[in-house]
Amino acid sequence: MKSEIIQISDTLFLKLGKLITERYGIKMPIEKKIMFQSRLQKRLRELNLISFDEYAGKLFDVNGGAEEFSTLADIISTNKTEFFREMAHFDFLTASVLHHFPGQVPKYRIPQMNIWSAGCSSGQEAYSLAITIEEFNRTSGFNLGYLITATDISTRMLKTANEAIYPMSQVGDISMDLKQKYFLKSKNPDDRKVRLTKEIRDKVRFSYLNLMDDSYGLKVDFNVIFLRNTLIYFEPSVQILILTKVLENLVEGGYLFIGHSESLINMNLPIRSIAPSVYVKKI
Ligand SMILES: C[S@@+](CC[C@H](N)C(=O)[O-])C[C@H]1O[C@@H](n2cnc3c(N)ncnc32)[C@H](O)[C@@H]1O
Repeated sequence: MKSEIIQISDTLFLKLGKLITERYGIKMPIEKKIMFQSRLQKRLRELNLISFDEYAGKLFDVNGGAEEFSTLADIISTNKTEFFREMAHFDFLTASVLHHFPGQVPKYRIPQMNIWSAGCSSGQEAYSLAITIEEFNRTSGFNLGYLITATDISTRMLKTANEAIYPMSQVGDISMDLKQKYFLKSKNPDDRKVRLTKEIRDKVRFSYLNLMDDSYGLKVDFNVIFLRNTLIYFEPSVQILILTKVLENLVEGGYLFIGHSESLINMNLPIRSIAPSVYVKKI
């Protein structure tokens, strides 16, 4: 028997939406009500709740409300991603950033590039970055050291990212050469999965970071920041606040990559455009 859809009122949706926007920056206009309602059905049933009012009670409960908010962020965030998404960025990184990087650091320091994948979802972007640098090192004769920090608010996505196990279908567009070098294949023919090699996994550190937080507490300044397809979920005023904080963590002359469908026009930030959706922090 089909179970009935539990409905949320406009008033409660707007109240919860406002809180979500305040905590996570994600826009929640009334047009998102149906999406919100349908994504939450499973969660309400798991909790044996029969109404959104009961769910709101759970969210505001002093014991466990914070945890439920985190689950809610997981449920409502859009985590679409893929390996080598927007390939032009990875080509640009190799041709215009990596090739020039070793010359930028003083000779007495071992060149180490610090990269941040902000809003990393399930990790494919961070691992694509690691593969790009490994390939650069292999083909250029450089031995560029690097470490990738990858952050998100979705604990569910971060768990997948850390495990680095993906359905085989997700690597269909990756060349056989790269697959053989950087992915391990599951032995079970009924459960066709791949896992990034340890060499690649060891280059990426995943952690929880809410871009809405006042301070990010990051330990290093980054040479390259990928902040792609994440800003799009925020109001323009929130985008500026986030970008200002993000750019504080980028070295002068460092590179910021945003999604191809995102725009930084009229934001008056200390950056200049260098290629489509690629910016350099002004010196
Ligand atoms: C569509 S994915 C983008 C993934 C990847 N950057 C890409 O371009 O393929 C957007 C990610 O931003 C994350 N996100 C949303 N709000 C966030 C916030 N306030 N702080 C950090 N991450 C956030 C979501 O959880 C989601 O995983």
